[in-house]
Amino acid sequence: MILHQYLIIAGLTLQLFDYGQDLLVGGTDTSALTVEWALNELLKHPRLIRKATEELDRVIGRDKWVEEADFSKLPFLEAIIKETLRLHPLATLLSPRYALEDCTVAGYNIAKGTTVFINTWSIGRSSKYWDSPEEFIPERFLGKDIDMKGQNFVLLPFGSGRRMCPGYNLGIKLIRSMLANLLHGFNWKLPRGMKPEEICMEEHYGLTTHPRIPLAMIPEPRLPVNLY
Ligand code: HEM
Repeated sequence: MILHQYLIIAGLTLQLFDYGQDLLVGGTDTSALTVEWALNELLKHPRLIRKATEELDRVIGRDKWVEEADFSKLPFLEAIIKETLRLHPLATLLSPRYALEDCTVAGYNIAKGTTVFINTWSIGRSSKYWDSPEEFIPERFLGKDIDMKGQNFVLLPFGSGRRMCPGYNLGIKLIRSMLANLLHGFNWKLPRGMKPEEICMEEHYGLTTHPRIPLAMIPEPRLPVNLY
């Protein structure tokens, strides 16, 4: 009896450890990398930084940092995040799905027992769903009801359904908060002599997708000195 209880506890501990490991792997560089991609794109398109900081100055003002309660008042910032995740989804392929029975999804006939891989990267860059798909145009999301919670199948950076990312709420808040405050608190410059068009947007594929060459950026404070 004691051995039986011991085995159950050991099994549960292992299961918790396994899930904890998933959380660590899934939660470590995902949000930071999304912010890195967003800054790469913004430095490549200085007009968008001006537009984003205009919104921050108008809505937040220069005498405070951005807080969670402010996010809903910053539609352009949200559009930048969606556009970043459209072009640079961190997981190129979603977790594999296994068909329990014959079915038809989006016009494809899928036989029972098939393993299906969904390629979010290619959906995000398909001219079937997006105008000028290779261009970074956050304005395409303004006034549109396209969320990232797995119901709009053209934008699935966090996946969908029962295997959808359980870290969505934490991840999206971290991205909003980091990106908003990095843009609000600092002017970002490229190293001396570097031009926006020289920024490398090539990807390095791995468990998550990194920029092949990390970008060096120079921050300058833009808020009153007492806030730092
Ligand atoms: C920018 C932030 C993040 C992005 C873009 C992201 C994206 C994803 C994607 C695409 C999947 C696969 C979903 C599917 O196949 O339907 C996933 C799974 C997962 N994510 Fe995230 N994630 C992020 C943040 C986080 C955070 C902060 C955590 C934990 C604290 C986390 C934990 C996990 C775990 C444990 C899974 C596996 C779920 C399962 O297979 O049942 N993620 N994530």
